Amino acid sequence: MVARVIAVDPFDLIVFGATGDLAIRKLIPALYHRDEAGQIPPEARIIGASRRPLSDEAFRDAACAALQEHVEPANRADAALQRFLARLSYVAVDAAGDAGWSDLAARVADQPERIRVFYLAVKPDLFGPICGQIGHHGLASTHARVVVEKPIGKSLESARAVNDAIGEVFPEERVFRIDHYLGKETVQNLMALRFANMMFEPLWNNAHIDHVQITVAETLGVEGRAGYYDTAGALRDMAQNHLLQLLCLTAMEPPTSLADNAVRDEKLKVLKSLVPITAENVGEWTVRGQYRAGASEGGPVAGYLEELGAPSSHTETFVALRAQVANWRWAGVPFYLRTGKRLAGRVSEIVIGFRPVPHSVFDTSAGPLLPNRLVIRLQPDEGVKLWLMIKDPGPGGMRLQHVPLDMSFAAVFPVRNPDAYERLLMDVVRGNQTLFMRRDEVEAAWAWIDPILDAWALSHDAPKPYTSGTWGPSAAIALIERDGRTWHEDES
Ligand code: BG6
Repeated sequence: MVARVIAVDPFDLIVFGATGDLAIRKLIPALYHRDEAGQIPPEARIIGASRRPLSDEAFRDAACAALQEHVEPANRADAALQRFLARLSYVAVDAAGDAGWSDLAARVADQPERIRVFYLAVKPDLFGPICGQIGHHGLASTHARVVVEKPIGKSLESARAVNDAIGEVFPEERVFRIDHYLGKETVQNLMALRFANMMFEPLWNNAHIDHVQITVAETLGVEGRAGYYDTAGALRDMAQNHLLQLLCLTAMEPPTSLADNAVRDEKLKVLKSLVPITAENVGEWTVRGQYRAGASEGGPVAGYLEELGAPSSHTETFVALRAQVANWRWAGVPFYLRTGKRLAGRVSEIVIGFRPVPHSVFDTSAGPLLPNRLVIRLQPDEGVKLWLMIKDPGPGGMRLQHVPLDMSFAAVFPVRNPDAYERLLMDVVRGNQTLFMRRDEVEAAWAWIDPILDAWALSHDAPKPYTSGTWGPSAAIALIERDGRTWHEDES
């Protein structure tokens, strides 16, 4: 199986926050991989921009160090490295002030017609000011587009303000709001699975599906990001965007095509169909947790408060939610969502739990008849498992077993699994918005999240503590078990 590379048009990519964490860990390695694969044309330029003065040479050194750290040695041929580094240059620009903007304008002035991408890998409060300066300096040509990362605001109101500020300079069709989960291979596979196969869609409804589980579990803590994280928490950091996007792709109606607005219209309808969680049901349908000291990946780890260096905080590092989509397809089918840091394992998966068969023809010696489950594993060990009941081989009567039809993508497709940013960056250059969030989607997601935040604030309850290295507070287990269901655990 060979990866297919379709070259993109020449572009100038200006990365604000060029020496920050996102650029170093994700953007520069992703661009390098695309360049190494031959997707980036020779004329394309990558211009780093941030406040601190740095020579082109020093920026290339920083990029080179990033590649040494984040790219496998087998993919780091010297010629490819040198070719990539030669594309890089640097301009010191004050995002909020005037310094450096004319230098940046001069750097791209020779190519006014070229695709120009502004990637804002900076704090969200700089989105508005940077867009303002881009407009003010005449850099927002008709071929220019802007890429922003989450979080877009902290609430519906602040998200609107950020979107308004961006919208003053860039029309919606040139705004690319990244949710990197949409760039993950297996997330796109969810669309392939649903819409390129006949066998799932007829069953994809409340007549055949009992419930859906979406888990994004991490073993890492908040690392060096406690300052940001404490102002966000798991609901804003993961649920408002990644979990809800996964829910949308699972629950949406088949779009008429993969055209950007065809897909985004369907996702928006799902977000608008979510049953509100308010002060009345927040205690029953949500669980918040915060990790304490414990063990993770074989070693002792500190608790959240120690990492934060504060005696107390009500910020949740874990959240479990029982969501409901109020429409004909999904009425009565709960969607259980959970995400957390310092959990027992790193696993992201979507589990479709089917209903039990209506009548058993087997006698009790066959053993229990367990319902089918379709497990879409996003990471790690990307793949799809379909759990079926099968007869135990050999004599001894009709004994049944629950076993998976197991497709591991690494075994079937022995190619490097590209990072989400590789695809997303090339989609920006191509101008394809299908895997990016439209303004109304982001705002509809906030409109569902805001009342949960308000209800939590009203309750004054602290998040429930959980020991690092466990699956979160026991209340999260109770949340699903109250309904007679359990969180999926891989039995194989
Ligand atoms: C980010 C969150 O959006 O996603 C982080 O801000 C989180 O807190 C990360 O760790 C998880 O992404 P991935 O790709 O490692 O699953």
